[in-house]
Amino acid sequence: MKDVISMRNLLREDVDSLITTALDLKQRKDGCERFRGKKLASLFYENSTRTRESFEQAAVNLGMSIVGFSGTEGTSVKKGETIADTIRMYSGYGADMFVMRHNLDGAPQAAADVLNVPVINGGDGCNGHPTQTMLDLMTIKEAHGTIDGLKIAMVGDLRYGRTVHSLLQAAELYEFEPWLVAPENVAMPSWRVDDFRKATSRDVVFTNDLMEVIKNVDVLYMTRIQRERFPEGPEGQTEYKKISGKYRLMAEMLKSAKSGLIVLHPLPRYKYDCEIDVDVDKTLYAKYFVEAENGLYMRQTLLAQSLEAGFNERKKTDLDNRNLWIDQEIKDNPKPPHNFLYRITNGTLIDHIEAGKGRAVTRVLGLNEYSATPLIVARNLRSERYGKKDVVGVQDKELSDDELNKLGLVSSGATVNIIRDGRVVRKGKVNLPHTLENVIQCPNSGCISAPEHYEHVPARFYVEEREPLMVRCHYCEKPLGREEIRLKV
Ligand code: NCD
Repeated sequence: MKDVISMRNLLREDVDSLITTALDLKQRKDGCERFRGKKLASLFYENSTRTRESFEQAAVNLGMSIVGFSGTEGTSVKKGETIADTIRMYSGYGADMFVMRHNLDGAPQAAADVLNVPVINGGDGCNGHPTQTMLDLMTIKEAHGTIDGLKIAMVGDLRYGRTVHSLLQAAELYEFEPWLVAPENVAMPSWRVDDFRKATSRDVVFTNDLMEVIKNVDVLYMTRIQRERFPEGPEGQTEYKKISGKYRLMAEMLKSAKSGLIVLHPLPRYKYDCEIDVDVDKTLYAKYFVEAENGLYMRQTLLAQSLEAGFNERKKTDLDNRNLWIDQEIKDNPKPPHNFLYRITNGTLIDHIEAGKGRAVTRVLGLNEYSATPLIVARNLRSERYGKKDVVGVQDKELSDDELNKLGLVSSGATVNIIRDGRVVRKGKVNLPHTLENVIQCPNSGCISAPEHYEHVPARFYVEEREPLMVRCHYCEKPLGREEIRLKV
């Protein structure tokens, strides 16, 4: 795997080795310009100080040159250029790797899909920030000597804050106990907690009592309320004001801290409501500036690893759709001519559709009463398999792979007959494919694949579980159950 897009894809052994190497680099502090002549494209569509500076400084230490931008002001993004077009240009000018931060969930994934060189996610919308998590883990390991067995509390904006999403994913690799402390309207999305539970069979601790947390945990991970990600307009502002300043850590609160507690924060902290009071800075608990400094060593290690060897992939995304179609024996050929359904001379007959789904089938195939294609929809016919079934016949149309995908999703198990010159020439059962491209619309409006952003990336989902059905967005990682699926038409 060339890219670092999400903690979901990474293996513990790779993260362990990055931490060890980065801690070692911190001791040695050698620049070693190993990658002289290599070019980093540093594309920060969104504000950043630490992440961008540490990546760029790390690249300088490695002898690399840097191109790119910090904020889109002055670039053609402002003229309405897509991400794909912008990055192709940097690639054409010889970039050997990319670091990208973007306000849309899944933007670095979309970039990685079109580039042959490594892409590192420097923070994507509300989704993830994997390299932040790596330097967080490095700081925890440095302070505690271990990550396993600890209690790590994430406090503040767990809904819009991407750093805590990646940190919770890291709890699938390390045996720490996540404590989640957040006002109700910015709680950790329940699907993220479910992902953790499913992957580990362990549970999180929910609490709102910060004093109780301080007495019990080993790491207090404070976060900023992500004001810029609240819905625009007065409602969003009211929501924001309700919670800004709700969790505020002050030095005297740490008197009852568990021994060895460290306080982390990805920074920046908000100077007006101060989720960590400046008094805390002077205490031995404060490790957030060390954490930021560690970012340089971790990112230097990451850049080198990406350029040299890449990473192992944990959750292999299987793009194999071979089981999409299972050939069946052609019997009774030609079909009895008295049956109106079999009057199709050239085209497709879709049989054994679950009763009631005939209309959904025609809809996903883009066929309706207004389309020019002759169409037969028969409902509630007798069927040995379902008791009742629907059947759809389309004259002069053979289904494309995309259409078979859609059919497999809507009515897995349907039989497709391809008819030429009045004879069935091919017959098969469609299955639920592994990858669904342009079939499902991602309901997350912050996802790069949402059409309103005009980034022209194909909506793509993976089938993670078949019974009950669960699919996951390739970009924003959001899982959907059958009832949440909206078909793209
Ligand atoms: C964080 C981010 O951008 O997600 N900052 C960072 O990278 N250190 C956290 C934040 O902005 O609150």
